[in-house]
Amino acid sequence: MFLGAATSAFQIEGGLATWGRTPSIWDAACPDAEQACDSLRRWPEDLECLRRARLRAYRFSLSWPRLQPGGEGPLSSRAADYYDRMVDDLLAAGITPWVTLYHWDQPSGLPGWQSEETVHALADFSHRVGRLLGDRVKNWFTLNEPWCVAELGYRQGEHAPFLRLNDDEVSRVRQHLLLAHRLSWQELHRYGRAGPAMVPIPFLPYRAGDEEACELAWREVNDPWFVRLEGDFWGLNLYYPSYVEAAADSWREVEFQGPRNALGWPLDSAFIRPTVERILSRYDAPALVVSETGVASHDDSQRLDYLKDYLTEMRALPLEGVFIWSLLDNVEWQHGFTAPFGLFDRERRPRPSAEWVASFHGWLGRAEGQLV
Ligand code: FCB
Repeated sequence: MFLGAATSAFQIEGGLATWGRTPSIWDAACPDAEQACDSLRRWPEDLECLRRARLRAYRFSLSWPRLQPGGEGPLSSRAADYYDRMVDDLLAAGITPWVTLYHWDQPSGLPGWQSEETVHALADFSHRVGRLLGDRVKNWFTLNEPWCVAELGYRQGEHAPFLRLNDDEVSRVRQHLLLAHRLSWQELHRYGRAGPAMVPIPFLPYRAGDEEACELAWREVNDPWFVRLEGDFWGLNLYYPSYVEAAADSWREVEFQGPRNALGWPLDSAFIRPTVERILSRYDAPALVVSETGVASHDDSQRLDYLKDYLTEMRALPLEGVFIWSLLDNVEWQHGFTAPFGLFDRERRPRPSAEWVASFHGWLGRAEGQLV
């Protein structure tokens, strides 16, 4: 199982107008994004962090409004040079690039996922990106967490574009996202492997007797996304469980009683094995990769404890690799700089968890009785 780290363009790059970048739907909600981690200028230091932590793979995203201003027409040559160089530098360092096309920072001028126009815009972007990087990039993520886009962005109004649409409209958004994934996958698959970075909602029965409620929750929430989902692999973003109990012929979530991270997310590794096993038995899944897992904490010993715990669970499962969220503390969307997920801080100072990650493969070997 390889270990990598993940970031996304909006959360680290900064320079919201640099090189002709046009606004994205997230800009106005995130004042910290103008600075972010300044990765546009500090990429060589980011690369050094990856090297120091001895990571084997880097998942990063392309800023759609920077690389294709306004979401249409030719790619910007200045931005293309930047991503070209990142890919070349990673390959020269022996680190495999995994490139995400859509990590939420959609160009503001596009109509949004209610419209098929956005589907075709993403397919066109994928086509152009494939021609730019496809000779060197062999692993692609199409969409990041389409469930969050539809449910948090278009139903609950918590994420950009902050809409509160009805059931029919949200299901149209879901169909468009799935179609966009399929078209993007077809474009990128020509150059290597492509898949979505999904966020399954990891429902677990709260107590004995709640299995039927849990089954209903999976059927209602996860099946519409996973049944007939294409991909050469599926990425799974795995952060925390959701316990459910029976409630009048249906199900409801039970509040988690246990430790939580700086964002209030439960810390509990017990969901990892049953969730991966359920995905394998319930769906026709291709290879699986954990596309994100991590801990937001102001206390690195908490981050380290949970990373060890989560990775211990994951290495016993048929997973190709795991990407830790995140390489650096960054802009956690509407929460700004308040949720530090980084192995390194924004000054690129390593935390003890980064040192531990550097010894991960040795740790794996020792744990299995054969030092690597
Ligand atoms: C995921 C997002 C990622 C990051 C982590 C903490 O939902 O994909 O960008 O914000 O959560």
